[in-house]
Amino acid sequence: MQKKPRLLVTRHMPDNVTTRIRRDYDATLNPTDRIMSPEELVSAAEGMDAMMICGSEKITPALLEALPDSVRMIATYSVGHEHIDLAAARAHGVTITNTPKVLDAAVAEVAMLCLLGAARRGHEGQTLVRQGKWASWNSTMLLGKQVSGARIGILGLGGIGQAVAAAARGFGMQVHYHNRNRLPQEEESGARYHATAAELFAVSDFLSISCPSTDETRGMVNADLIAQMPDGAVIVNTARGDIINDGDLIAALESGKLFAAGLDVFANEPNLDPRYRTMENVFLMPHLGSASVETRDAMGFCCLDNLDAFFQGKPCLTPL
Ligand code: DGY
Repeated sequence: MQKKPRLLVTRHMPDNVTTRIRRDYDATLNPTDRIMSPEELVSAAEGMDAMMICGSEKITPALLEALPDSVRMIATYSVGHEHIDLAAARAHGVTITNTPKVLDAAVAEVAMLCLLGAARRGHEGQTLVRQGKWASWNSTMLLGKQVSGARIGILGLGGIGQAVAAAARGFGMQVHYHNRNRLPQEEESGARYHATAAELFAVSDFLSISCPSTDETRGMVNADLIAQMPDGAVIVNTARGDIINDGDLIAALESGKLFAAGLDVFANEPNLDPRYRTMENVFLMPHLGSASVETRDAMGFCCLDNLDAFFQGKPCLTPL
C-alpha cells in the first residue's frame, strides 16, 4: 500500500475537515490551536511533505529558507494570501494554493450584516435592550440610514464583491464599482463602473471594501478618499483591516462626515485600534466573514482537494 503523504496542519480544523485529513494523510494536528512561532513551525515541519496553514502563519522568505526541503506544498485555509511571499515560495519550488470562491456567499452575508448593523444602529439597539435601558417605543429613537434605494460602491468586484452586489440588489440598492480593469458586461450584472477610486467614493452612500490587501490597496481608504464621499455615508470592511487608515476613518466617524462603519476586519488583529471599542457608530465583528459551518468545511475541502491533486501528480485546482 502506498504511504500517505505527511501533512502538518498548523491550526485546529472543523470536525468534517479533520476526519478527511486523518483518513487521507499521515497528519500532525494542532488540537490546542496555539499559534506557533516561526521556529516552532520549522521544527514541526521536520519530515513533512506539505503544510495546511491559516493566515496566522507568515510564510516569509526566511521561513521558506529554514523549512525542510521535504515540504513541497503549502495549502492556505484562506482566500487572502498576503501572509505568504509567493515569489519566495516559487523560488523555493513550493506550490501554494488558497480557497477562492467557496467563501464568497458567506463573506457577502457578513458584509450585509455589517452594512445593516452600521446603517440601522445595530450596536446601539442591542445595548439598549441588553442593558434594560429601553423605556418605550419612540418615533425618533435610534433613527438610522435607509439602505433600500441607496447607492453602494464596491471596491473590488471579484467573487466576494459580486456576491455583495447580488445581496445589495436584493435590498434595492444601486450598485457601482471600481476595479483596476473593467469587467466583461456579463459579470457586471448592471453594476456601473468607475475608472478611479475617487469617482467611486463620490457616488457611494455605502462603500463596501472587497479587494485584497496589496501594496497598492494598503492604507488606500484615507482622508482624501473619504472626503469625496457624500456626507453621512457608511463604510463597510470585510476584506483586510490594513486597507483602511484607521486614524482617518475614526476622525470622519467622530466629525459626522461618515454616519457609521461596519467592520469585520482590522489592522493588527486581534489588537485593533482601541478607539473603535467605545465608538457608538461602529458595528464590530471579530473577522467572521467566512465563519459558517458550511463554508469552513468547504474551505478545508478545497485545501484537501488541492493537496490530493498535488500528491496524485495532477494540477492543483486553485494554485497561486
Ligand atoms: C480569508 O479566507 O482570507 C478569510 O479572511 C479568513 O482568513
